[in-house]
Amino acid sequence: MMFEAKISLSEVMAALSTMTFILISVRVIGNMTKKNILPAGPWPLPIVRNLLQLGEHPHLSFIQMRKNYGDVFLLKLGIVPVVVVNGLETVKQVLLRDAESFAGRPKIHIFSFFADGKSLSFSVEYGESWKLHKKIASKALRFFSKSEAKTSTCSCLLEEHVCAEASALVKMILELSLEKSAIDLTGITICTVANVVCVLCFGKRYEYNDEEFLSMIRINADFLKATSVVNSADFIPWFHYLPIPAVKAAHGFYEVLNNFINHLRDITDALISISNDKRSDGKAPLLSNDKIISTVNDVFGAGFDTVSTCLFWIFLYLVNNPDIQTKIQEEIDGKIGLRSPRFDDRKDLHYTEAFISEILRHTSFIPFTIPHRATKETILSGYLIPQDTLSANLFMFHNDIWHFIIVTSLRKVLVFGMGIRKCLGEDIACNEIFIILTTILQQLKLEKCLQDQLDLTPVYGLSMKPKPYQIQVALCT
Ligand code: HEM
Repeated sequence: MMFEAKISLSEVMAALSTMTFILISVRVIGNMTKKNILPAGPWPLPIVRNLLQLGEHPHLSFIQMRKNYGDVFLLKLGIVPVVVVNGLETVKQVLLRDAESFAGRPKIHIFSFFADGKSLSFSVEYGESWKLHKKIASKALRFFSKSEAKTSTCSCLLEEHVCAEASALVKMILELSLEKSAIDLTGITICTVANVVCVLCFGKRYEYNDEEFLSMIRINADFLKATSVVNSADFIPWFHYLPIPAVKAAHGFYEVLNNFINHLRDITDALISISNDKRSDGKAPLLSNDKIISTVNDVFGAGFDTVSTCLFWIFLYLVNNPDIQTKIQEEIDGKIGLRSPRFDDRKDLHYTEAFISEILRHTSFIPFTIPHRATKETILSGYLIPQDTLSANLFMFHNDIWHFIIVTSLRKVLVFGMGIRKCLGEDIACNEIFIILTTILQQLKLEKCLQDQLDLTPVYGLSMKPKPYQIQVALCT
């Protein structure tokens, strides 16, 4: 036969090897011509890779690593490559200039618990539908924040709730201080902030001794403790099946939260109504019920621990710096007097506002943004960033703008992130912190317990908290 030929196994192998060699060469030459290299980073160990090198305080380990490897470096945490980005200009490129390329969220085990992976904050999906979801959530928060107060002369419903909770907190502090001279404000501050967010999400406030409320607060604290940035179950897949605290806590948290979802109200109503806007045209609603519930979950989770942690730091810095406390009180006396503080007072209390900004920046208590994922292969500072996890490092970023802040203390601190993934709750958080701080200092003086050495070193976590401390309070004269 004309075309019949015998091909031996060794010839087939030789042909395959040649093809493989050509393919690899094309890839390598392609990469070389692009001059793209992966960022450098510390040498990884077997299996755990760089996980152990992060130590108990990853934000401090990153400072050391930055000295060795520069603003952009690569870690391997278990099987997950993580690029850490430091420095104002590089962080701006990631969050603002090249935001679309870095706006995804990584596929992390613990994130999959949030609303079955459909959450606004943690969902891996990034695209037009996510953008619409964020737009609607942001509109609903604004809509709710600005809706009319129900019973008081407050400018809006949110102000009414926050002012009522701040007054209840002052009352609780006074009651506690009658029982004992040294008091810990942690528990009652958490209840205050949790109540604002419960009213926001579920239309309901709770008494400070309500068992359901307290159990939800406890389980939230366990969840946050267990899910620090370096959670081994996120990086080593077979850890998912072990009874480690992070995985157990995530299950518990969602079980308790789901019970709360039975009381959906205000913010949920706002979401439903905005989402149904298009129904009159006969078109489908903008957000499915699932997405509405997951958005409420997000607001609940995000608006609770962040604000209370900020207040713990504020109280600690106030007792440690009595002269600053006096200046804030003088400003309150001069600009507000005896009436209740309102959101609108923020524009006149410059010193108080600068103090809050400085606490946010100086503590940088949220050391990292929620991890970002490169949505496509991208070049950052000359390095090739494949589609993987990327954590923008806010802590370093804040230290970089030290001088900038000293010169213009009223400039906004960028602790809320920037760009597409920016925090949705900045206005709510800043208003809430302002009202709670001014309502307390209008009536009370916070003081150090005699001979107490207050420790400003944070305890590392998703949000870094001060070590437990006690204070004394006196009525303002
Ligand atoms: C002092 C208080 C707060 C701080 C410091 C803070 C900070 C942050 C940071 C750093 C991020 C991540 C940004 C990123 O990934 O690039 C974030 C995201 C978010 N925050 Fe906040 N936050 C605070 C309060 C709140 C409150 C009160 C709410 C809701 C009422 C809220 C809702 C959210 C949501 C929904 C996201 C996810 C946004 C997204 O994935 O696109 N936050 N926040």
